[in-house]
This record gives sequence, structure tokens and C-alpha cells, in this order.
Amino acid sequence: MTSPHPSGQDLAAKQGQYLARIEGAATLEALEEVRLEALGKQGDITQLMKSLGGMSPEERKEKGEAFNQIRVVLQDAIGAKRTRLEKEALQESLSKEWEDVTLPGANLQKGRIHPLSQAMFEALEILGDMGFYVAEGPDIEDDFHNFTALNIPELHPARQDQDTFYFPKDAKGERLLLRTHTSPVQVRTMMNKKPPIRIVAPGRVYRSDYDQTHTPVFHQIEGLYIDKDIHMGHLKGCLETFCQRFFECPDLPVRFRPGFFPFTEPSAEIDIGCGRKDGRLVIGGGEDWLEILGAGMVHRKVLENCGVDPDEYQGFAFGMGVERLAMLKYGLTDLRAFFESDVRWLEHYGKSPFAGLMGGVL
Ligand code: DAH
Repeated sequence: MTSPHPSGQDLAAKQGQYLARIEGAATLEALEEVRLEALGKQGDITQLMKSLGGMSPEERKEKGEAFNQIRVVLQDAIGAKRTRLEKEALQESLSKEWEDVTLPGANLQKGRIHPLSQAMFEALEILGDMGFYVAEGPDIEDDFHNFTALNIPELHPARQDQDTFYFPKDAKGERLLLRTHTSPVQVRTMMNKKPPIRIVAPGRVYRSDYDQTHTPVFHQIEGLYIDKDIHMGHLKGCLETFCQRFFECPDLPVRFRPGFFPFTEPSAEIDIGCGRKDGRLVIGGGEDWLEILGAGMVHRKVLENCGVDPDEYQGFAFGMGVERLAMLKYGLTDLRAFFESDVRWLEHYGKSPFAGLMGGVL
């Protein structure tokens, strides 16, 4: 009786057939088909390997070696053929495909920095260089921090409803409000921290007003410097340097004009020199002045209200509107556009995020 298992001759024939088919496979898909037929889970050779389990030990030894040999031969042949086919496929695609290096590059959609953010970053960078730290306070304030502590008397027009957005009265008859300026951050800082204090407080402020130069929400940066022996000379030096650096104009004329704020004494309004050329505003030089911020020496009463001894400490404060700074620096004329979220406007007036602060390259 002949063995139910293939003889050496049969095996050699099988191997020869598979090798021929492997050699003849014209594509990677055809090669994979042959591989599955021979070595796949249900494949011919796999079945032979499985049949070893039912053999006597002697037969298993003999056939096992033979089966394994054919498996290795076929595996090697398939591997070698696959490498060749892959190389050919690559050559083929390289010879057919080409790149047109003259095509314009893909247009990356990049965002823009809003002029308001840009002006804010630039101003804070300069003030940070001078040693001011950033402080913040809440947008929703109470009467004490927004007015009373700042020596704004009960009947001051700023308290009237047309300027201030008030919330409804609470059970105790008190009403919160949206802060009308960043000055309450001065109060909060002095009440929480011992001098020396050197802070700038950027943030949103709210007033009931709307026209070409007023919006109900706008932004201010407040400054406060409290220490022993701080005087008006420090204030002048600080703001002159700030204006000249912000407007990138080293000899920008800066003028201090007497002014009035309840929370400072003396108070000043600060103007920068400007002129007009062909109907356009030019910052620096010229015969005109533009008001850009308010400042003064912190009023004794404010220091007292905030728990700072005015006989030991003095200081100066200033406040500026960031939209106004941005409009002057970048030549924008309508404040309302700042808040309309028109991407065409932003595309035009926004700054590139890849240009560093102060126009430099990062
Ligand atoms: N709070 C003032 C305003 O909103 C601006 C201001 C003026 C702030 C003088 C100050 C200051 O700190 O000293 O109009």
C-alpha cells in the first residue's frame, strides 16, 4: 500500500509548480494569490504541515523536514519576487508621475492679529520692560471700587445712569455695575498688597455710548506706581518714554497739560505732537496736539481709602484707551469696525502673526 502522504517526487513537482507560478506572477496581487494558495491558513503547504500531527514519529521526522524545506523555499521565492515587483512598481510610477515645480504653492490660510490685540501687546511689552507687572480685576464691579474709593463723589456725572451700565438692585438695595474704567484695579491692588506697587491693568471697560469714536465696550490700560519718594518727574519720564516707544518715534513731542481727575492731584492730560500732510494725520512733529491719555499723582484720599499711608507713600497713576492708541498708530478712522468682526477688515488691517512685536521678525 502506498502512503497517503505525498512522496518526495510529488513534493518536488509541487515545489516546481509553485516556483513557476511565483516567477510568473506579473503583479503584487497575483503573487499574493499564489502565496495564499500555498502558505495561507488553508493553503496547500499549510495543510501538509498540519497533516504531520497524524503521522508516526519516524514518518513525521522525514516528512516534517521535507515539508518545512518546501515551505522555506517558497517563502524565500515569494519574498524575493515581492521585492522585485515593488521596485518595478516604483520605477513605473516614477517614470509616469512628475511634479510641476512651476505651480504656485498651496495658499496657507493664516489668521491675523486684531489691531486692538496688537496695540495691547505692544503697549504691555513696553510697560513690562519698564518693570510694571500685569494685574487684573473683575469686569463687574461695585460702587466702592469703581467710584467711592477713587474719590468720585456721589454727584459726579460719571455716576449718572447715561454713562454707567448698572445691574438691578439687590436685596440690600445695592447695585453692581460694569466697570467704567480700569482704575478700580488700582484700588483692589492697593488694598491687597503692600507698596512698592508697580502694575499695569489691561482690560475691558463699559460705557453707554455709541458713535464713530465711542463704543459701549472698549479697552484701557491702567498704570499705578506707588513707592516712597515717587514724584511727577517719574511720571513724566515714564509716559514720555512710553509714547515715544509706542509710536516708534524717538523725538515725539509729549506735552503735559493740567487736567482734572478726582483720583489724582495734580492731574494731567497728555498730548503728543502731530501734524497733517496731504489731509492725513502724521504722528510726531507738526503744529498740532492729540490727547492720548490721562494721568496724575495719586490723590491722598485714594491712598487713605485703600489703606496706604499718604505720608509714607506717594505714587502716580495713568489710564489710556487702547482703541485710541491703535487707531492713531495704524491710521484707523472708525472705531466701530473694531467690533464688527468683518474678516475683510481684519485681513486688511490685522497684523501678521509671524511678524514679531514692534514690527520685528521673531
Ligand atoms: N480712569 C480715567 C478714565 O477712564 C483715566 C485715568 C486718568 C486713569 C487719570 C488714571 C489717571 O489712572 O490717573 O477716563
